[in-house]
Amino acid sequence: MSNRSTWKCRISGEPLFPVLDFGLQPLGNGFLLPEQFDKEYFFHMQVGFDPESKMFQLLEQPNPEQMFHENYAFFSGTSRFMAAHFEEFANRVKSSGCLKTDPFVVELGCNDGILLRHFAKEGMHHLGVEPSRNVATVANEQGVSTISEFFTAELAEQIVKEHGQADAFLAANVMCHIPTIRNVVKGIKTLLKPTGVVQFEDPYLGDVLRKTSYDQLYDEHVFLFSALSIQYLFALEDLELIDLQPQGTHGGSMRYVLAHQGAYPQQPSVAAILSEEKAQGLDRLETFQAFAQQVARSKTELQELLSDLKRQGKKIAGYGATSKSTTILNYCGIGPDVVDYISDTTPIKQGKYSPGTHIPVQPYEHFQQDRPDYAVLFAWNHQQEILAKELGYTQSGGQWIVHVPQVQILK
Ligand code: SAH
Ligand code: TMP
Repeated sequence: MSNRSTWKCRISGEPLFPVLDFGLQPLGNGFLLPEQFDKEYFFHMQVGFDPESKMFQLLEQPNPEQMFHENYAFFSGTSRFMAAHFEEFANRVKSSGCLKTDPFVVELGCNDGILLRHFAKEGMHHLGVEPSRNVATVANEQGVSTISEFFTAELAEQIVKEHGQADAFLAANVMCHIPTIRNVVKGIKTLLKPTGVVQFEDPYLGDVLRKTSYDQLYDEHVFLFSALSIQYLFALEDLELIDLQPQGTHGGSMRYVLAHQGAYPQQPSVAAILSEEKAQGLDRLETFQAFAQQVARSKTELQELLSDLKRQGKKIAGYGATSKSTTILNYCGIGPDVVDYISDTTPIKQGKYSPGTHIPVQPYEHFQQDRPDYAVLFAWNHQQEILAKELGYTQSGGQWIVHVPQVQILK
Protein backbone atom coordinates (compact mmCIF):
# COMPACT_ATOMS: atom_id res chain seq x y z
CA MET A 1 0.00 0.00 0.00
CA SER A 2 1.87 3.10 -1.08
CA ASN A 3 -0.70 5.00 -3.13
CA ARG A 4 -2.22 8.19 -1.83
CA SER A 5 -5.78 7.70 -0.59
CA THR A 6 -8.85 9.87 -0.65
CA TRP A 7 -8.40 10.26 3.12
CA LYS A 8 -6.89 13.63 4.08
CA CYS A 9 -4.41 14.47 6.83
CA ARG A 10 -6.31 16.13 9.69
CA ILE A 11 -3.48 18.65 10.06
CA SER A 12 -2.26 19.60 6.56
CA GLY A 13 -5.26 18.56 4.45
CA GLU A 14 -2.90 16.61 2.14
CA PRO A 15 -3.91 13.08 1.00
CA LEU A 16 -2.70 10.35 3.36
CA PHE A 17 -0.57 7.37 2.34
CA PRO A 18 -2.17 4.21 3.88
CA VAL A 19 0.44 1.88 5.41
CA LEU A 20 -1.37 -0.50 7.79
CA ASP A 21 -4.68 -2.35 7.65
CA PHE A 22 -5.99 -3.97 10.86
CA GLY A 23 -9.30 -5.02 9.29
CA LEU A 24 -12.54 -4.60 11.21
CA GLN A 25 -12.03 -3.47 14.82
CA PRO A 26 -14.54 -2.79 17.62
CA LEU A 27 -14.25 0.01 20.23
CA GLY A 28 -11.03 -0.50 22.25
CA ASN A 29 -12.83 0.09 25.56
CA GLY A 30 -16.16 -1.37 24.37
CA PHE A 31 -16.44 -4.19 26.96
CA LEU A 32 -19.91 -5.64 26.58
CA LEU A 33 -22.55 -8.13 27.73
CA PRO A 34 -23.78 -11.14 25.68
CA GLU A 35 -27.09 -9.42 24.88
CA GLN A 36 -25.08 -6.69 23.10
CA PHE A 37 -22.99 -9.06 20.92
CA ASP A 38 -25.28 -8.97 17.88
CA LYS A 39 -25.32 -5.16 17.65
CA GLU A 40 -21.64 -4.59 18.36
CA TYR A 41 -20.06 -1.70 16.44
CA PHE A 42 -17.03 -2.26 14.15
CA PHE A 43 -15.02 0.08 11.93
CA HIS A 44 -12.31 -0.50 9.34
CA MET A 45 -9.07 0.39 11.11
CA GLN A 46 -6.36 1.57 8.73
CA VAL A 47 -3.42 3.82 9.46
CA GLY A 48 -1.74 6.34 7.17
CA PHE A 49 1.16 8.79 7.07
CA ASP A 50 1.43 12.31 5.71
CA PRO A 51 4.98 13.26 4.66
CA GLU A 52 4.00 16.97 4.83
CA SER A 53 2.82 17.19 8.48
CA LYS A 54 4.72 13.98 9.48
CA MET A 55 1.55 12.89 11.28
CA PHE A 56 0.85 9.14 11.63
CA GLN A 57 -2.92 8.72 11.99
CA LEU A 58 -5.99 6.52 11.60
CA LEU A 59 -7.82 6.98 8.31
CA GLU A 60 -11.23 6.45 9.88
CA GLN A 61 -12.23 6.85 13.55
CA PRO A 62 -15.52 6.29 15.40
CA ASN A 63 -17.28 9.45 16.66
CA PRO A 64 -15.83 10.77 19.96
CA GLU A 65 -19.28 10.50 21.59
CA GLN A 66 -19.24 6.73 20.94
CA MET A 67 -15.98 6.39 22.90
CA PHE A 68 -16.16 9.01 25.68
CA HIS A 69 -19.40 8.97 27.66
CA GLU A 70 -21.00 8.25 31.04
CA ASN A 71 -19.80 4.62 31.00
CA TYR A 72 -16.16 5.18 30.04
CA ALA A 73 -14.25 2.09 31.17
CA PHE A 74 -10.78 3.49 31.85
CA PHE A 75 -10.04 4.87 35.33
CA SER A 76 -6.54 6.40 35.64
CA GLY A 77 -6.30 5.50 39.33
CA THR A 78 -5.98 1.73 38.69
CA SER A 79 -2.16 1.96 38.49
CA ARG A 80 -0.12 2.90 41.56
CA PHE A 81 2.89 3.63 39.37
CA MET A 82 0.89 6.08 37.28
CA ALA A 83 -0.32 7.81 40.46
CA ALA A 84 3.33 8.33 41.48
CA HIS A 85 4.21 9.45 37.95
CA PHE A 86 1.50 12.11 37.97
CA GLU A 87 2.57 13.40 41.39
CA GLU A 88 6.06 13.85 39.98
CA PHE A 89 4.61 15.55 36.85
CA ALA A 90 2.74 18.02 39.11
CA ASN A 91 5.90 18.74 41.11
CA ARG A 92 7.84 19.46 37.92
CA VAL A 93 5.20 21.92 36.72
CA LYS A 94 5.21 23.64 40.14
CA SER A 95 9.00 24.01 40.18
CA SER A 96 9.32 25.01 36.49
CA GLY A 97 8.66 28.72 37.12
CA CYS A 98 5.67 28.96 34.75
CA LEU A 99 3.15 29.37 37.59
CA LYS A 100 3.08 33.14 38.34
CA THR A 101 1.08 34.94 41.06
CA ASP A 102 -2.31 33.35 41.78
CA PRO A 103 -1.83 30.87 38.93
CA PHE A 104 -4.53 29.10 36.94
CA VAL A 105 -3.97 25.50 35.76
CA VAL A 106 -6.16 23.78 33.15
CA GLU A 107 -6.07 20.08 32.37
CA LEU A 108 -7.60 18.34 29.37
CA GLY A 109 -8.92 14.79 29.92
CA CYS A 110 -8.29 14.88 33.67
CA ASN A 111 -10.21 11.57 34.08
CA ASP A 112 -10.58 10.79 37.83
CA GLY A 113 -8.32 13.73 38.82
CA ILE A 114 -5.08 11.74 39.15
CA LEU A 115 -2.90 14.75 38.13
CA LEU A 116 -4.99 17.83 38.89
CA ARG A 117 -5.64 16.85 42.51
CA HIS A 118 -2.04 17.80 43.31
CA PHE A 119 -2.91 21.42 42.39
CA ALA A 120 -6.41 21.29 43.90
CA LYS A 121 -5.18 20.15 47.31
CA GLU A 122 -3.02 23.29 47.59
CA GLY A 123 -6.07 25.45 46.88
CA MET A 124 -4.68 26.50 43.48
CA HIS A 125 -7.12 27.85 40.89
CA HIS A 126 -7.66 24.95 38.46
CA LEU A 127 -10.13 23.45 35.99
CA GLY A 128 -10.44 19.98 34.51
CA VAL A 129 -12.19 19.41 31.17
CA GLU A 130 -13.39 15.80 30.94
CA PRO A 131 -16.21 14.64 28.63
CA SER A 132 -16.65 11.17 30.19
CA ARG A 133 -19.17 11.97 32.87
CA ASN A 134 -18.56 8.97 35.17
CA VAL A 135 -14.85 9.69 35.60
CA ALA A 136 -15.47 13.47 35.78
CA THR A 137 -17.83 12.77 38.71
CA VAL A 138 -15.05 10.92 40.54
CA ALA A 139 -12.73 13.91 39.97
CA ASN A 140 -15.32 16.34 41.37
CA GLU A 141 -15.88 14.09 44.39
CA GLN A 142 -12.12 14.24 45.02
CA GLY A 143 -12.26 18.06 45.12
CA VAL A 144 -11.03 18.57 41.54
CA SER A 145 -13.22 21.17 39.76
CA THR A 146 -14.16 19.52 36.50
CA ILE A 147 -16.59 20.31 33.71
CA SER A 148 -17.88 17.44 31.62
CA GLU A 149 -17.28 18.73 28.08
CA PHE A 150 -15.10 18.11 25.04
CA PHE A 151 -12.39 20.77 24.86
CA THR A 152 -12.78 23.05 21.80
CA ALA A 153 -11.60 26.53 20.71
CA GLU A 154 -15.10 27.84 21.57
CA LEU A 155 -14.93 26.34 25.07
CA ALA A 156 -11.47 27.92 25.52
CA GLU A 157 -12.99 31.38 24.89
CA GLN A 158 -15.68 30.68 27.47
CA ILE A 159 -13.09 29.54 30.02
CA VAL A 160 -11.05 32.75 29.47
CA LYS A 161 -14.21 34.84 30.07
CA GLU A 162 -15.02 33.02 33.30
CA HIS A 163 -11.55 32.28 34.72
CA GLY A 164 -8.99 34.35 32.78
CA GLN A 165 -6.03 32.93 30.86
CA ALA A 166 -4.03 29.93 32.06
CA ASP A 167 -0.45 29.75 33.33
CA ALA A 168 -0.25 26.04 32.61
CA PHE A 169 -2.17 23.90 30.15
CA LEU A 170 -1.66 20.21 30.94
CA ALA A 171 -2.76 16.94 29.34
CA ALA A 172 -1.73 13.29 29.48
CA ASN A 173 -2.75 10.55 27.10
CA VAL A 174 -5.53 12.59 25.59
CA MET A 175 -4.20 14.94 22.89
CA CYS A 176 -3.60 11.87 20.67
CA HIS A 177 -7.32 11.01 21.08
CA ILE A 178 -8.70 14.16 19.48
CA PRO A 179 -9.41 14.18 15.72
CA THR A 180 -10.23 17.91 15.73
CA ILE A 181 -6.82 18.71 17.17
CA ARG A 182 -6.28 21.80 14.99
CA ASN A 183 -9.28 23.37 16.69
CA VAL A 184 -7.91 22.29 20.11
CA VAL A 185 -4.53 23.93 19.39
CA LYS A 186 -6.36 27.11 18.39
CA GLY A 187 -8.13 26.95 21.78
CA ILE A 188 -4.82 26.45 23.58
CA LYS A 189 -3.43 29.60 21.95
CA THR A 190 -6.46 31.59 23.17
CA LEU A 191 -6.32 30.13 26.63
CA LEU A 192 -2.60 30.49 27.29
CA LYS A 193 -1.19 33.61 29.00
CA PRO A 194 1.76 35.25 27.15
CA THR A 195 4.03 33.58 29.75
CA GLY A 196 1.96 30.40 29.92
CA VAL A 197 3.36 26.93 29.23
CA VAL A 198 1.75 23.85 27.65
CA GLN A 199 2.92 20.45 28.90
CA PHE A 200 1.41 17.27 27.58
CA GLU A 201 2.50 13.67 27.14
CA ASP A 202 1.38 10.82 24.94
CA PRO A 203 2.68 7.42 23.77
CA TYR A 204 5.67 8.17 21.56
CA LEU A 205 5.83 7.11 17.90
CA GLY A 206 9.60 6.53 18.09
CA ASP A 207 9.08 3.87 20.80
CA VAL A 208 6.14 2.25 18.99
CA LEU A 209 8.33 1.70 15.93
CA ARG A 210 11.35 0.53 17.92
CA LYS A 211 9.28 -1.95 20.00
CA THR A 212 6.67 -2.94 17.41
CA SER A 213 4.05 -1.97 19.97
CA TYR A 214 1.37 -1.70 17.31
CA ASP A 215 -1.33 -2.15 19.98
CA GLN A 216 -0.91 1.58 20.70
CA LEU A 217 -3.10 1.89 17.62
CA TYR A 218 -6.80 1.54 18.48
CA ASP A 219 -9.95 3.57 17.95
CA GLU A 220 -9.18 6.22 20.58
CA HIS A 221 -5.59 6.84 19.44
CA VAL A 222 -6.30 8.72 16.23
CA PHE A 223 -2.68 9.98 16.19
CA LEU A 224 0.70 8.72 17.33
CA PHE A 225 2.87 11.81 17.74
CA SER A 226 6.53 12.57 17.16
CA ALA A 227 8.34 15.83 17.96
CA LEU A 228 8.37 16.51 14.20
CA SER A 229 4.58 16.27 13.87
CA ILE A 230 3.95 18.27 17.06
CA GLN A 231 6.31 21.00 15.88
CA TYR A 232 4.38 21.22 12.57
CA LEU A 233 0.95 21.22 14.24
CA PHE A 234 1.64 23.89 16.88
CA ALA A 235 3.53 26.16 14.45
CA LEU A 236 0.17 26.64 12.70
CA GLU A 237 -0.83 28.71 15.76
CA ASP A 238 2.59 30.31 16.42
CA LEU A 239 3.34 28.04 19.37
CA GLU A 240 6.76 26.39 19.60
CA LEU A 241 8.51 23.52 21.34
CA ILE A 242 10.74 24.69 24.20
CA ASP A 243 11.57 21.30 25.71
CA LEU A 244 11.12 17.56 25.13
CA GLN A 245 11.21 15.10 28.01
CA PRO A 246 11.10 11.36 27.19
CA GLN A 247 9.05 9.31 29.70
CA GLY A 248 9.08 5.59 30.52
CA THR A 249 5.29 5.43 31.01
CA HIS A 250 2.92 3.50 28.73
CA GLY A 251 5.82 1.70 27.09
CA GLY A 252 7.59 4.92 26.10
CA SER A 253 5.99 8.36 26.02
CA MET A 254 7.12 11.88 25.21
CA ARG A 255 6.32 15.00 27.22
CA TYR A 256 6.06 18.02 24.88
CA VAL A 257 6.63 21.45 26.44
CA LEU A 258 5.48 24.42 24.34
CA ALA A 259 4.93 28.15 24.67
CA HIS A 260 4.09 31.21 22.57
CA GLN A 261 6.80 31.86 19.98
CA GLY A 262 9.80 33.62 21.50
CA ALA A 263 8.50 33.54 25.10
CA TYR A 264 11.15 31.12 26.40
CA PRO A 265 14.55 29.85 25.19
CA GLN A 266 14.56 26.43 23.55
CA GLN A 267 16.28 23.65 25.52
CA PRO A 268 18.96 21.60 23.69
CA SER A 269 16.67 18.52 23.95
CA VAL A 270 14.51 19.92 21.13
CA ALA A 271 17.21 20.01 18.44
CA ALA A 272 18.67 16.71 19.71
CA ILE A 273 15.40 14.76 19.54
CA LEU A 274 14.32 16.29 16.22
CA SER A 275 17.58 15.15 14.70
CA GLU A 276 17.25 11.64 16.25
CA GLU A 277 13.80 11.39 14.69
CA LYS A 278 15.18 12.22 11.26
CA ALA A 279 17.87 9.57 11.75
CA GLN A 280 15.11 7.06 12.69
CA GLY A 281 13.21 8.06 9.52
CA LEU A 282 10.08 9.39 11.23
CA ASP A 283 9.77 11.86 8.36
CA ARG A 284 9.76 9.20 5.62
CA LEU A 285 7.03 6.93 4.24
CA GLU A 286 9.45 3.99 3.75
CA THR A 287 9.98 3.79 7.54
CA PHE A 288 6.26 3.15 8.06
CA GLN A 289 6.13 0.61 5.25
CA ALA A 290 8.95 -1.31 6.98
CA PHE A 291 7.02 -1.02 10.28
CA ALA A 292 3.98 -2.64 8.60
CA GLN A 293 6.12 -5.69 7.81
CA GLN A 294 7.32 -5.91 11.44
CA VAL A 295 3.68 -5.79 12.58
CA ALA A 296 2.70 -8.67 10.29
CA ARG A 297 5.66 -10.71 11.59
CA SER A 298 4.73 -10.04 15.21
CA LYS A 299 1.16 -11.22 14.54
CA THR A 300 2.35 -14.53 13.03
CA GLU A 301 4.76 -15.14 15.91
CA LEU A 302 2.10 -14.58 18.56
CA GLN A 303 -0.43 -16.79 16.77
CA GLU A 304 2.16 -19.58 16.44
CA LEU A 305 3.30 -19.37 20.06
CA LEU A 306 -0.27 -19.52 21.42
CA SER A 307 -1.32 -22.36 19.07
CA ASP A 308 1.73 -24.33 20.09
CA LEU A 309 0.89 -23.95 23.80
CA LYS A 310 -2.73 -24.91 23.20
CA ARG A 311 -1.57 -28.05 21.35
CA GLN A 312 0.37 -28.92 24.51
CA GLY A 313 -2.87 -28.55 26.50
CA LYS A 314 -1.73 -25.48 28.46
CA LYS A 315 -4.15 -23.13 30.15
CA ILE A 316 -3.72 -19.49 29.07
CA ALA A 317 -5.27 -16.36 30.61
CA GLY A 318 -4.86 -12.67 29.80
CA TYR A 319 -3.64 -10.12 32.35
CA GLY A 320 -5.11 -6.59 32.01
CA ALA A 321 -8.18 -6.01 29.83
CA THR A 322 -6.52 -3.05 28.18
CA SER A 323 -7.89 -1.09 25.25
CA LYS A 324 -4.60 -1.96 23.51
CA SER A 325 -5.42 -5.68 23.78
CA THR A 326 -8.52 -5.11 21.63
CA THR A 327 -6.24 -4.47 18.64
CA ILE A 328 -4.10 -7.54 19.38
CA LEU A 329 -7.02 -9.91 19.95
CA ASN A 330 -9.00 -8.85 16.89
CA TYR A 331 -6.05 -8.49 14.52
CA CYS A 332 -4.54 -11.85 15.56
CA GLY A 333 -7.94 -13.58 15.79
CA ILE A 334 -7.51 -14.70 19.42
CA GLY A 335 -10.75 -15.75 21.11
CA PRO A 336 -11.92 -17.66 24.22
CA ASP A 337 -10.79 -20.95 22.62
CA VAL A 338 -7.20 -19.76 23.16
CA VAL A 339 -7.34 -17.31 26.09
CA ASP A 340 -9.82 -18.58 28.70
CA TYR A 341 -10.40 -15.20 30.39
CA ILE A 342 -8.75 -11.84 31.04
CA SER A 343 -8.09 -10.71 34.60
CA ASP A 344 -8.69 -7.02 35.40
CA THR A 345 -9.03 -4.94 38.57
CA THR A 346 -11.50 -2.42 37.07
CA PRO A 347 -15.04 -3.18 38.37
CA ILE A 348 -16.81 -1.72 35.29
CA LYS A 349 -15.01 -4.25 33.01
CA GLN A 350 -15.59 -7.33 35.20
CA GLY A 351 -18.41 -9.70 34.22
CA LYS A 352 -18.29 -8.28 30.69
CA TYR A 353 -16.60 -9.63 27.54
CA SER A 354 -13.71 -8.29 25.50
CA PRO A 355 -14.70 -6.21 22.45
CA GLY A 356 -14.93 -8.21 19.21
CA THR A 357 -13.53 -11.56 20.34
CA HIS A 358 -15.72 -11.94 23.47
CA ILE A 359 -13.30 -13.33 26.03
CA PRO A 360 -14.78 -13.09 29.58
CA VAL A 361 -13.24 -10.46 31.88
CA GLN A 362 -12.81 -11.83 35.39
CA PRO A 363 -11.97 -10.03 38.64
CA TYR A 364 -8.35 -10.25 39.75
CA GLU A 365 -9.30 -12.64 42.60
CA HIS A 366 -10.24 -15.24 39.97
CA PHE A 367 -6.70 -15.11 38.52
CA GLN A 368 -5.20 -15.42 42.02
CA GLN A 369 -7.10 -18.65 42.65
CA ASP A 370 -6.88 -20.07 39.13
CA ARG A 371 -3.14 -19.69 38.47
CA PRO A 372 -3.11 -20.58 34.74
CA ASP A 373 0.02 -22.08 33.14
CA TYR A 374 0.56 -18.92 31.10
CA ALA A 375 -0.55 -15.29 31.43
CA VAL A 376 -0.45 -13.02 28.38
CA LEU A 377 0.58 -9.63 29.72
CA PHE A 378 -1.79 -7.39 27.79
CA ALA A 379 -0.91 -4.58 30.24
CA TRP A 380 2.77 -4.90 29.20
CA ASN A 381 3.20 -1.16 29.76
CA HIS A 382 2.76 -1.83 33.50
CA GLN A 383 5.17 -4.80 33.42
CA GLN A 384 7.44 -3.63 36.24
CA GLU A 385 4.52 -2.95 38.60
CA ILE A 386 2.72 -6.20 37.73
CA LEU A 387 5.71 -8.55 37.87
CA ALA A 388 6.64 -7.12 41.27
CA LYS A 389 3.08 -7.76 42.48
CA GLU A 390 2.90 -11.26 40.97
CA LEU A 391 6.10 -12.81 42.32
CA GLY A 392 4.00 -15.53 43.97
CA TYR A 393 2.45 -16.58 40.63
CA THR A 394 5.84 -16.58 38.91
CA GLN A 395 7.54 -18.49 41.74
CA SER A 396 4.85 -21.15 41.69
CA GLY A 397 5.65 -21.85 38.01
CA GLY A 398 3.32 -19.37 36.24
CA GLN A 399 4.83 -18.06 33.00
CA TRP A 400 4.42 -14.69 31.27
CA ILE A 401 3.95 -14.09 27.56
CA VAL A 402 4.66 -10.63 26.12
CA HIS A 403 4.61 -9.39 22.53
CA VAL A 404 6.68 -6.23 23.14
CA PRO A 405 9.48 -5.61 22.18
CA GLN A 406 9.21 -9.09 20.65
CA VAL A 407 6.93 -12.08 21.09
CA GLN A 408 8.43 -14.21 23.86
CA ILE A 409 7.93 -16.17 27.07
CA LEU A 410 9.67 -14.12 29.77
CA LYS A 411 12.66 -15.83 31.31
N1 SAH B 1 -5.15 11.85 31.65
C1 SAH B 1 -5.54 10.55 32.13
C2 SAH B 1 -6.68 9.93 31.28
C3 SAH B 1 -6.30 9.46 29.91
S1 SAH B 1 -7.64 8.65 29.07
C4 SAH B 1 -4.36 9.60 32.19
O1 SAH B 1 -3.34 9.87 31.57
O2 SAH B 1 -4.48 8.55 32.84
C5 SAH B 1 -8.20 9.94 28.00
C6 SAH B 1 -9.21 10.84 28.65
O3 SAH B 1 -9.42 11.97 27.79
C7 SAH B 1 -10.57 10.19 28.86
O4 SAH B 1 -10.92 10.32 30.21
C8 SAH B 1 -11.48 10.93 27.89
O5 SAH B 1 -12.80 11.06 28.36
C9 SAH B 1 -10.81 12.29 27.75
N2 SAH B 1 -11.07 13.02 26.48
C10 SAH B 1 -11.29 12.50 25.25
N3 SAH B 1 -11.51 13.49 24.35
C11 SAH B 1 -11.40 14.66 25.01
C12 SAH B 1 -11.54 16.04 24.62
N4 SAH B 1 -11.80 16.41 23.36
N5 SAH B 1 -11.37 17.01 25.58
C13 SAH B 1 -11.07 16.65 26.86
N6 SAH B 1 -10.94 15.37 27.29
C14 SAH B 1 -11.12 14.38 26.37
P1 TMP C 1 -3.76 0.80 30.43
O1 TMP C 1 -2.70 -0.06 29.80
O2 TMP C 1 -4.61 1.51 29.39
O3 TMP C 1 -3.21 1.69 31.50
O4 TMP C 1 -4.81 -0.19 31.14
C1 TMP C 1 -4.39 -1.08 32.12
C2 TMP C 1 -5.50 -2.06 32.44
O5 TMP C 1 -4.94 -3.13 33.21
C3 TMP C 1 -6.63 -1.47 33.26
O6 TMP C 1 -7.87 -2.04 32.83
C4 TMP C 1 -6.34 -1.93 34.69
C5 TMP C 1 -5.61 -3.23 34.46
N1 TMP C 1 -4.61 -3.54 35.49
C6 TMP C 1 -4.79 -4.69 36.28
O7 TMP C 1 -5.76 -5.42 36.11
N2 TMP C 1 -3.86 -4.94 37.26
C7 TMP C 1 -2.79 -4.13 37.46
O8 TMP C 1 -1.96 -4.40 38.34
C8 TMP C 1 -2.60 -2.96 36.61
C9 TMP C 1 -1.41 -2.05 36.81
C10 TMP C 1 -3.55 -2.72 35.65
